[in-house]
Amino acid sequence: MKKLLVTGGMGFIGSCFIRTMLNMEEALHITNADLPTYAGNPDNVKPYDESERYTFLKTDISNAADVERLFQHGSYDAVFHFAAESHVDRSISHPEQFVVTNVLGTFHLLEAARRHGVGRFIHISTDEVYGALGDEGSFSESSPLEPNSPYSASKASSDLMARAYMKTYGLPVITTRCSNNYGPYQFPEKLIPTIILNALQDKPIPVYGDGLHIRDWLYVEDHCLAIAAAWKRGRIGEVYNIGGHEEKTNIEMVRTILGLLNKPESLISYVTDRLGHDRRYAINPDKTRRELDWKPKKTLEQGLKETVQWYVDNRSWWERVLSGAYREGW
Ligand SMILES: NC(=O)c1ccc[n+]([C@@H]2O[C@H](COP(=O)([O-])OP(=O)(O)OC[C@H]3O[C@@H](n4cnc5c(N)ncnc54)[C@H](O)[C@@H]3O)[C@@H](O)[C@H]2O)c1
Repeated sequence: MKKLLVTGGMGFIGSCFIRTMLNMEEALHITNADLPTYAGNPDNVKPYDESERYTFLKTDISNAADVERLFQHGSYDAVFHFAAESHVDRSISHPEQFVVTNVLGTFHLLEAARRHGVGRFIHISTDEVYGALGDEGSFSESSPLEPNSPYSASKASSDLMARAYMKTYGLPVITTRCSNNYGPYQFPEKLIPTIILNALQDKPIPVYGDGLHIRDWLYVEDHCLAIAAAWKRGRIGEVYNIGGHEEKTNIEMVRTILGLLNKPESLISYVTDRLGHDRRYAINPDKTRRELDWKPKKTLEQGLKETVQWYVDNRSWWERVLSGAYREGW
């Protein structure tokens, strides 16, 4: 029985990782370390509450004593570190929490993992650490780190600390950097659920600036499968870029989703651009495809269709988020 520690497993991607791994492999036990932040939603992993293969431990990763308790609870074959403050807009209005959670929190986990020992430490990062691209090219693993927002700067800082723990102490770290994710269970403040939920409620859909910012989209389960492949086949000390070669402007995404829901484009409402808004991201995932034998299972067209349908079918999930009732689950 492999023992995995997942941080941030009540969130969007961490909970998908827990579902994916427990469905895919029998001989696994997952400990989920999370905290009642606004982004942590117990509904996301509710089906596992009674499972013998799942344990939840309320843990603030920015608190050294909490993290020590987590590692005293058991030994782990692998740590999958998802927990983070993850919303760029919040990092612009309240940057300090991003330093506390993403930098200090990652440090405490690395430090505890070094002292207690772990089989692998998979550090989940983002393509945003590379900064913004012009009209051409894509980010490779050797692109310079040029983060532009407090969010991406805090993630880049955590990447560097993870690298240092690998180089200095030999901690078996593997870092993954993924492009924008979409899919079921994403907190409504992010672009795709905002578009879907506002459209479903006939509310205006806010689009930053001219709507021509480009993102490279990947279905969340494909991201999770790439992370699993990095654990199984990745080389220690390496960085793996994860992306689906699906570049789209924000306004294209809005129009596609409105079309899927049969809603009018008159719902589109252009709003003042985000401060320092990165114009374009694009990932070169060649190394990940080659070394990890991974490629996305879903195209953007398929994934978006299924995602829209999921939000249509799971109204009670998002109504509990919008009303705040999901927090009663803590
Ligand atoms: N969403 C994306 O498109 C994307 C793309 C690439 C990488 N990532 C990275 O993937 C990871 C997960 O992203 P997400 O979209 O699922 O984020 P999310 O905001 O949905 O989830 C983050 C989780 O971390 C938990 N958390 C926050 N502070 C904590 C603390 N102090 N202690 C313990 N837990 C804490 C939250 O409660 C939540 O459950 C992040 O590290 C993010 O940088 C996200």
